[in-house]
Amino acid sequence: MKDLIEKLKQDFTNRLDKANSASDLETLRVDFFGRKGKLNQIFKQLTRLSVEEKQKWGPYLNQLKARWQKALANKHQKLTQTAPVADFNFPAFPVPTFGRLHPIEWMRQKTLEIFTPLGFIEVDGPHIENDWYNFEGLNIPPGHPARDLWDTLYVDLKDDKNSPLLLRTHTSNIQLRALQKYKPPLKVMSFGRCFRHEVLDPRHSHTFSQFEVLVVDKNINMSHLKWLSDYFLKQILGEVTQSRFRPKYYPFVEPGVGVDAKCVFCAGQGCSVCSNSGWFEIAGAGMVHPQVLTNAGLDPDEYSGFAWGFGPDRMLMLMTGVDDIRQLYQGNLNFLKG
Ligand code: DAH
Repeated sequence: MKDLIEKLKQDFTNRLDKANSASDLETLRVDFFGRKGKLNQIFKQLTRLSVEEKQKWGPYLNQLKARWQKALANKHQKLTQTAPVADFNFPAFPVPTFGRLHPIEWMRQKTLEIFTPLGFIEVDGPHIENDWYNFEGLNIPPGHPARDLWDTLYVDLKDDKNSPLLLRTHTSNIQLRALQKYKPPLKVMSFGRCFRHEVLDPRHSHTFSQFEVLVVDKNINMSHLKWLSDYFLKQILGEVTQSRFRPKYYPFVEPGVGVDAKCVFCAGQGCSVCSNSGWFEIAGAGMVHPQVLTNAGLDPDEYSGFAWGFGPDRMLMLMTGVDDIRQLYQGNLNFLKG
């Protein structure tokens, strides 16, 4: 019996040493402590021994069993603690964000999202423009007093027709370009930077943004313009607002209108944001002037259209509470992160 037990002890110690996974330990456990395991076999052999021998080896074997079970448990704990744990289902740590959309880009995307489903396609116009597309083609001839509306920054260069180049003062420069490129029916939109020789203050910046819309087809009339103004304002500011037209002069539209939005802060009752008027001006618009259609090579008796331009900067300021337009163009990280 003694020899048998010695052999068994060696066997167990060896295998315990070699075990290096939880499944090795499980096999060892079954081999030794299972119903048909080695310990049980030895216990069976005890029954054949004398009472004295039984009294000697019985308790000893029981102690051995308890010790081994403890050793197995210890080793199990050691193995499972040190084994590398890789749980690929575990959610990843959040990736730190290093940036976000610039507010103007955010506004651009929001605006395009509203107009794209209506079938508008986005066009672009150059920042450095000639006199024709920015002024003359839009019915603003040289020396016309209306040029004073746009304090223009000129570039010290001329184009190939010896016409002075300038920084576009509005996105309306896309109108004739789009009409030349795409024939009616046409629905285009453009979001971009414009430049003026402004006296700078919280409401004026030499660089600013505009959004322009142009629709030309047969039988386009003011009601289309009114519908679109309402639609846009409700989409961007919510159902409480609505549009209001006031007569306003722009040389490239006839009739021309100023588009007001009912103040969303006081629902038109009058408050400090809208200077107690209940409304704020957000866009200029009107029916495309027959001269502009003619300049585009179209017959104004056959075609009509409307143009609409709004200042996204002002809208953004209204929506976010930013109180100085210059913040939007200075690239100040502290402002942009805030
Ligand atoms: N271009 C005008 C401006 O800079 C805004 C504008 C007015 C655009 C009337 C239009 C329009 O398309 O029809 O003030």
